[in-house]
Amino acid sequence: MSLQSSAWRRVLGKAFRLTNVCLYAVCHRKIDLVDQKRFWEMRSLQGVDDHSAAEADPYYQNFDRTVESYLERYKGLSQSPYVEIGTYQGYRLEKFASRIRERLFIGVDLGFANLRIGKQNFLHSPNVRIVDADACHLPFPSNLADLIYTVVALSHVPFGKIRNALSEIFRVSRRYVLLVEIDCRPMRWRKKLEAISLSYGYMHRYEKLVDHTIARLVETETLRDDKGHPRYTVFLFAKS
Ligand SMILES: C[S@@+](CC[C@H](N)C(=O)[O-])C[C@H]1O[C@@H](n2cnc3c(N)ncnc32)[C@H](O)[C@@H]1O
Repeated sequence: MSLQSSAWRRVLGKAFRLTNVCLYAVCHRKIDLVDQKRFWEMRSLQGVDDHSAAEADPYYQNFDRTVESYLERYKGLSQSPYVEIGTYQGYRLEKFASRIRERLFIGVDLGFANLRIGKQNFLHSPNVRIVDADACHLPFPSNLADLIYTVVALSHVPFGKIRNALSEIFRVSRRYVLLVEIDCRPMRWRKKLEAISLSYGYMHRYEKLVDHTIARLVETETLRDDKGHPRYTVFLFAKS
């Protein structure tokens, strides 16, 4: 690549990020250029995921323990499944399912490419199933699951589709919905701008998007890193 074209790419990248920040501030929208299915499949092919590094990282150890503690709370409620939306290769799905054996865990994601990688590498627990589906059209009956959860998945659903995805998730959930997502609001300015300008990420206001007659927000918890930065937020909803 020539020096000139890489300089142009940088300028275009900056203009794109700036436009997204302005659109977000004015009308809570952004330019959608990313095909999420393709994006996450390409990411797998590039081999950028290092699960053993995540396992050794104290932040993610604590992160996973926290998410698991919410799943543990409700494990004795009934025998209906837990559903994870946006399971990617299923690394966390397997981790949680291997520890909470009382429940069937169903992992949902767009396309089989990544789910197949997970199946080959680490989806071994007998209480795990995987389903190729879009969060906006879940192929499940209403009230199937006691709890549906997401771990940084709805942060990749565009503004124009998020209401559909949430409405499907709350239709399929019988009792609880746990969203562990990026919430830029508690972030410092610099980090907030970085999050808003991400080409493949969307900052949603979950508590505003969920109708109070359908569910109420019962708990939120900010998951901070060792510098105090609020990287992710847990939103726990109970159906009304
Ligand atoms: C950051 S990854 C999720 C990581 C995973 N939850 C974990 O904890 O390892 C985001 C995932 O959301 C999925 N995703 C994005 N939009 C989706 C949609 N509309 N329906 C289902 N999955 C979606 C992507 O395909 C991707 O696998």
